[in-house]
Amino acid sequence: MNQIKKRLALPAVMLALWALGAQATTDDDLAKRLAPVGQVCVQGQECKGMEVASTAGGAGGAKNIDEVITKHCNACHGPGLLGAPKIGDTAAWKERADHQGGLDGILAKAITGLNAMPPRGTCADCSDDELKQAIQKMSGL
Ligand code: HEC
Repeated sequence: MNQIKKRLALPAVMLALWALGAQATTDDDLAKRLAPVGQVCVQGQECKGMEVASTAGGAGGAKNIDEVITKHCNACHGPGLLGAPKIGDTAAWKERADHQGGLDGILAKAITGLNAMPPRGTCADCSDDELKQAIQKMSGL
């Protein structure tokens, strides 16, 4: 009788160990599968990459006009290259505006381009309004 019990006990223990082992693997797998969920960014925490997403959300929105001027217009309009009216030289800009029928007139030229002045002053993704603001800032008009 004792012998039989012993013979049954071993497989039973092995079965139990196997079951535990199987359970552990399942938990491991679960942990792996849940890992990406655990990495979800919580507001208020520092999250790498999230600031990129929030900036991207603002793309297409209003531009910083000073940046537009620095990046796109200043190269020519700063030093007055190729006869470009200089930044801050209101008289030169006003003369042009008077010839073209005001600020909207020179804006139209800035959009299409004029001789050495490239279309949109190289800021292809600037809106008309942003170009107008840049012209206003540069000219003081
Ligand atoms: C590659 C040089 C260059 C860049 C870059 C440039 N401009 Fe010009 N721009 C010129 C030149 C040259 C003229 C004068 C053209 C002429 O009268 O022949 C001019 C003229 C203008 C005029 C007057 C147009 C008129 O009707 O007389 C406006 C407005 C203007 N630019 C706006 C801008 C703005 C805004 C930017 C930046 C977004 C810009 N430009 C970038 C060279 C440039």
